[in-house]
Amino acid sequence: METQTLKQLAAGEECSREQLLALVEAESPLQQALWAQADRVRARFLGQEVHLRALIEISNYCCCHCLYCGLRSANGRLQRYRMSPEEIVDTAKEALQLGYKTVVLQSGEDPWYDGDKIAGIVSEIKKLGLAVTLSLGERRPEELALWRRVGADRYLLRHETIDRELYQGLHPGRSLEARLETLEQLRRLGYQVGAGMMVGLPQQRTETLVEDLLFLRRLPVDMAGIGPFVANGSTPLADAPSGRVDRTLNVVALARLLMPYAHLPATTALGALESQGRWAALQVGANVVMPNITPREYRDKYELYPNKNSIQGSNSDARENIEKVLQGLNRRIGQGYGHSRLVGG
Ligand code: 5AD
Repeated sequence: METQTLKQLAAGEECSREQLLALVEAESPLQQALWAQADRVRARFLGQEVHLRALIEISNYCCCHCLYCGLRSANGRLQRYRMSPEEIVDTAKEALQLGYKTVVLQSGEDPWYDGDKIAGIVSEIKKLGLAVTLSLGERRPEELALWRRVGADRYLLRHETIDRELYQGLHPGRSLEARLETLEQLRRLGYQVGAGMMVGLPQQRTETLVEDLLFLRRLPVDMAGIGPFVANGSTPLADAPSGRVDRTLNVVALARLLMPYAHLPATTALGALESQGRWAALQVGANVVMPNITPREYRDKYELYPNKNSIQGSNSDARENIEKVLQGLNRRIGQGYGHSRLVGG
């Protein structure tokens, strides 16, 4: 019966929640069939191109209290840093030299970078001819609008989980409603929007992962970041078990089947739990890799979870390494900007 579901999904037909749930929970050998089907759909709709996005982690200051995250403001063990606007633009220039076409500016929720500071940085980077993705958390509508006006192309804001109670418990002082409202705003402003969730959060029901997937499709998102929860010893969830890599791959594969054109990154958290985890994702539907080019001196301080920087070496070594891995998978680096097909790019 589940193989029937796979055929339905590949043909773009509707499936029931029960059918989707059986695939989220799929174990061998069904999960291999799911992964293979997702890989075929990826090849059919998106071809062999993998888009690279150079990630710059501009600040690890954060005013939030997310229970799972190492950047949470109460984590006194973390040495905090902020990159200056000049450093950020210089790192973007390095990205350009390395051949990247997109930079992603990511940080904790850090009001030190006010609307004007980020706008200035974005303007400078856009002059270089790079696409700009922002991932700076929930910010005021005026700021989001300003950054879009000065040329920011995309915005990543994972919804983390669509279960209202779970969301509330994990994010003290925040609400799922506000999160979803910000995602709606981003869409209205014309950003290419990324959301996404963690798999294997404590107390997370597998039924919720089905709802997460349906939410992503409904928004609809241009991009979806899906990674396992990784227990971090410096957080209140230190002793919780981490998420399962194979289950995360099931969810990535389902995302591909439900959203054939979506950009799906092979997330770093997969690599933190299994050395080959990111590359596995590329074989079950993922089509984006986000190499970290944050300057060395800061990189290990952006510790969302342990073993996050499983790939070491210089930025040019990392790029060559990715090229080799992609060759081995019969994939190639995307030539254009890799804008969303949903917005006709
Ligand atoms: N495990 C996995 N992912 C995490 N993130 C934050 N902390 C963790 C963790 N412990 C993810 C969140 C956030 C993104 C930047 O990193 O989904 O949106």
